[in-house]
Amino acid sequence: MADAAPNQPPKAPVVAEAHEVDTYHPPQKMLEKHPSKPHISGIEEYQQLYKESITEPNKFWGRLARELLTWSKDFQTVHSGTLEGGDNAWFLEGELNASYNCVDRHAFKDPNKVAIIYEADEPNEGRTVTYGELLREVSKTAYVLKQMGVRKGDTVAIYLPMIPEALVAFLACSRIGAVHSVVFAGFSADSLRDRVIDAQSKVVITTDEGKRGGKLIGTKKIVDDALKQCPDVSHVLVYKRTGADVPWTKGRDYWWHEEVDKWPSYIAPEPVNSEDPLFLLYTSGSTGKPKGVLHTTAGYLLGAAATGKYVFDIHDGDRYFCGGDVGWITGHTYVVYAPLLLGVSTVVFEGTPAYPNFSRYWDIIDKHKVTQFYVAPTALRLLKRAGNQHVRNEMKHLRVLGSVGEPIAAEVWKWYFEIVGKEEAQIIDTYWQTETGSNVITPLAGVTPTKPGSASLPFFGIEPAIIDPVSGEEIHGNDVEGVLAFKQAWPSMTRTVWGAHKRYMDTYFNVYKGYYFTGDGAGRDHEGFYWIRGRVDDVVNVSGHRLSTAEIEAALIEHSAVAESAVVGVADELTGQAVNAFVAIKEGNDATDALRKEFVLQVRKSIGPFAAPKAVFIVPDLPKTRSGKIMRRILRKILAGEEDQLGDTSTLSDPSVVDKIIAVVHDAR
Ligand code: WTA
Repeated sequence: MADAAPNQPPKAPVVAEAHEVDTYHPPQKMLEKHPSKPHISGIEEYQQLYKESITEPNKFWGRLARELLTWSKDFQTVHSGTLEGGDNAWFLEGELNASYNCVDRHAFKDPNKVAIIYEADEPNEGRTVTYGELLREVSKTAYVLKQMGVRKGDTVAIYLPMIPEALVAFLACSRIGAVHSVVFAGFSADSLRDRVIDAQSKVVITTDEGKRGGKLIGTKKIVDDALKQCPDVSHVLVYKRTGADVPWTKGRDYWWHEEVDKWPSYIAPEPVNSEDPLFLLYTSGSTGKPKGVLHTTAGYLLGAAATGKYVFDIHDGDRYFCGGDVGWITGHTYVVYAPLLLGVSTVVFEGTPAYPNFSRYWDIIDKHKVTQFYVAPTALRLLKRAGNQHVRNEMKHLRVLGSVGEPIAAEVWKWYFEIVGKEEAQIIDTYWQTETGSNVITPLAGVTPTKPGSASLPFFGIEPAIIDPVSGEEIHGNDVEGVLAFKQAWPSMTRTVWGAHKRYMDTYFNVYKGYYFTGDGAGRDHEGFYWIRGRVDDVVNVSGHRLSTAEIEAALIEHSAVAESAVVGVADELTGQAVNAFVAIKEGNDATDALRKEFVLQVRKSIGPFAAPKAVFIVPDLPKTRSGKIMRRILRKILAGEEDQLGDTSTLSDPSVVDKIIAVVHDAR
């Protein structure tokens, strides 16, 4: 089954009520404490540049690519291909190297400039890494990978927590033209195994253990479990993080510190073609199998650098702190690539916002004089709920407060602005996806007026379209609702799904011909501002983590007692959405609490703890049409307490199951 079958419009998004909202302008105080002035003088200049980026994209992007990236060979063709053809390519004939752009060019200028501010799980255990040191570390690690047989175009699996070596690993891969495939270190052994096999990685990089929120994570053990079924993995490089005693497979496992010691501190970067792959990152779609989203070198890097510069208004000397994990796209683009491409210091935070207490983020911001902070609303909801007494910090260098990954409610937005930012920093609600590579609908800090809850206006080169999901036609004009698509290609868009180009086409380009389909519902208000409503496909967003209901269902069915299951996302005050599972069990099993617990464990084991259902309902049967299609809509309505609005249930093969399910849900509450 394709993610969204072509010609079959997705479900209509929820239409929000029209309401009056305040507009906030970039705060005067933010401009006063600015080291110089924002890169763009104001909304008029944005509009002018935006217009150029849409009407003359080759001129616009050609200029930016030469300004923001360093090329070993200049490109001739800025762009080729079409959205319909799914064959977009940028900066052809050009050659460059990602690690050179992130490290060397800054190290040559000022080797003592801080590249990485590592804030360890325990406060005061961190350290800094300068650009000069980073160049040495990256070079040595690149040698190690080469020695392990990694060649240009090969994929390397990275299963690392938030430590500086994660960034070193990314850059060591790109230095030799290898493709990193990072797996979030919260994924289970089964998930890691699937990704290692799908990407055909022969080398895996990990730690002995990880440390997060005062707890230890057995990363090496998880890798060992995963690799039992990955006979093609020849080498595992293990960074010693805690010094724990870990099992060792001789001839396969190597200590990072011992290996890097053997090599010189400089290796020349390998120039690659603009369109050579930079990385793979697996993400969830509507089907059970995660997709390996592929990004290529030049276009992706340009998206990261351009949004870093204009969206976050990064200036030389800034200290940038993105709280996202390197295991997700936010960490890729905004912990690693954007700040390093622009040659500023990036904070790598290993811990959680609640450890050792709820002031941790704010302490880090004060301690390192952070200028831009970027985090998901789920963390803000947690901290807001914990109470304002934890936000005593001054944070007087903050100019930009970013939000990412899920809609931010107006009251959380205002709390972020008033309590965290003291009305001296601008809130930017940035909308984007793993597939878009970098921010696509977002305010530009210091420039764009904002409205709480709106991601505001398109970034350069992004031409949004609101489409009527029923007719499939674009809806022009303002004050409209529909699904969100883009009608022009942009440099950092994903180029393919690893090993599944048809899936790529069906998911993004065959749904509405001539458009890239985002999978999100959106509105455009009377002033042309965009309001993201959330996914219209079977993707749920739990604490900013993107999960596929089909993937969780596939995990549940692996349990021997499960006959069938249906997973839906429900609104949750803290996590945005929560996973709820309905399970029909096989005969001979009883609906006990113990069994429900086993189902939760099954999901933790197959995917990872972050995907665990918050509630499991064991039901006699699922609501299905006569052709066997599960009506998840009915389940969502029941959970929302809207039993009186189930609509027409006569098309169900057995309408009586509805009352039985309602009874189960009521009993559980
Ligand atoms: C959602 C995360 C509302 C959206 C960068 C999208 C958002 C999915 C926002 C991508 C935002 C991301 N407001 N919703 N500012 N940003 N989303 O691939 O549903 O993990 O399609 O990338 O997150 O999730 P992904």
